[in-house]
Amino acid sequence: MRSSILVGAAALSTAAVSANLPTIEAIGSKFFDKNGKQFFMKGIAYQLTPDDPLVDTEQCQQDAALMQTLGANTIRVYHVDPDADHDGCMAAFADAGIYATVDMDTFHSYVLPENTFWNKTQLDAYTKVMDTFHKYDNLLGLYVGNEIIARANQSLAAPFIKAAARDTKAHRDAKGYRNIPIGYSAADIAELRPMLQDYLTCGGNASENVDFFGLNSYEWCDPANYQTSGYANLQVNASNFPVPIFFSETGCNVPGPRLFEDQAAIFGPDMVKSWSGAIIYEWIQEENNYGLISYGPQVDPTATGANIGGGYTRKGKPTPKSPDFENLKTQWKAANPTGVARSDYDAKSASTRECPKSTSGGWLVDGNVAVPTLGATLTGSTYSQVPSATAGDHAAEPTESKKSAVSGSNEIAGMAAGLVGVMMIFTFWL
Ligand SMILES: *[C@@H]1O[C@H](CO)[C@@H](O)[C@H](O)[C@H]1NC(C)=O
Ligand SMILES: *[C@@H]1O[C@H](CO)[C@@H](O)[C@H](O)[C@H]1NC(C)=O
Ligand SMILES: *[C@@H]1O[C@H](CO)[C@@H](O)[C@H](O)[C@H]1NC(C)=O
Ligand SMILES: *[C@@H]1O[C@H](CO)[C@@H](O)[C@H](O)[C@H]1NC(C)=O
Repeated sequence: MRSSILVGAAALSTAAVSANLPTIEAIGSKFFDKNGKQFFMKGIAYQLTPDDPLVDTEQCQQDAALMQTLGANTIRVYHVDPDADHDGCMAAFADAGIYATVDMDTFHSYVLPENTFWNKTQLDAYTKVMDTFHKYDNLLGLYVGNEIIARANQSLAAPFIKAAARDTKAHRDAKGYRNIPIGYSAADIAELRPMLQDYLTCGGNASENVDFFGLNSYEWCDPANYQTSGYANLQVNASNFPVPIFFSETGCNVPGPRLFEDQAAIFGPDMVKSWSGAIIYEWIQEENNYGLISYGPQVDPTATGANIGGGYTRKGKPTPKSPDFENLKTQWKAANPTGVARSDYDAKSASTRECPKSTSGGWLVDGNVAVPTLGATLTGSTYSQVPSATAGDHAAEPTESKKSAVSGSNEIAGMAAGLVGVMMIFTFWL
């Protein structure tokens, strides 16, 4: 009797690891939880420390509790340490009703935008993150990259994003993991965005396509509206998209304070049928000035210590930044889309996309080019297809993607702001 109680207790405590949120799947152009309810992200970018913010349970508990009052249901984490223990943090967020989206790349395994390659060392690093996180019910999605293509002349790296999606999805399925959505988070580059999002979902083979498309967009800077912000254009390209599309970063901070009025557009009648929500950049206040909370006053940038880095306290009691925090809370409170029920949704109603043709000086990938094999390298505007374990006994001929003129780079200002935001957190302590 006594021993069976102990067994029961042990089983319970294992089950308590984020068992209280229904898992989420990408079906057609939407996310649904396993109860059949459409899911819309109200997300926060969360990276307190460069290597992994999901290892400090007590800190996660404090942050998750405050995020819950804000109305958040998702976080985005850019880097994690697959060797660390994340049980406490993932449970803390699950207890607060919050899912996690996690980037699989590490500081050493990024797919690079120039001299691009995709090989087994990278795949192993990515799948190690998946192997660590797949067990959490509140893992909502995994990214194969963030802004790999950061300039208008880097579109030749796009097939390598598909290669990473193909191989990580194959790993997921071979391991028998649930259908964890695997996608990409793109920089908002005006000249490439419509082609890139179509390319990553085109060609008719779901095994090679992303399961979702995240857009990092800082186009809506106050004062703005649906038309003047540029969101109306984003909507034209997102309408009836083949897979879920959402803002994987948003929240322009100039001039500030931030009003977050774009949330009303994203969750309102103009966009809600096409978009699955938004992730606000970012939780912690630091040099880039995007924070929704701070852990203490600014400190000397050269100061070091357990809780300090880059001139900011990076741990402790989170204090909302006023009025930004309240402004976002108000926007999210007013936005309660119900969407469509799984039982009423026909996934086949989502569109398919054409693979875009290359254009001189613009999008450089010509149509449905062969997705690079594991081990392939981009050299100039061509890439090698090498024989690999996954290529079986086909001794692949090297093939060439179409050679095209290279365009000048002309990113919009908002995208540059976004890049600065993200780069900051990555470079502070390097
Ligand atoms: C992948 O490429 C990197 C950089 O060239 C190299 O260090 C690594 O050894 C490669 N891995 C494999 C398995 O070829
Ligand atoms: C789809 O892609 C996978 C992975 O590259 C490949 O194994 C499969 O043969 C493709 N299916 C078709 C119908 O081309
Ligand atoms: C994207 O939207 C713009 C309007 O903003 C439109 O001109 C363009 O044709 C669209 N591109 C694609 C590939 O749908
Ligand atoms: C791409 O554009 C950048 C400027 O934005 C330039 O420095 C770089 O050399 C270009 N790359 C190529 C391959 O032309």
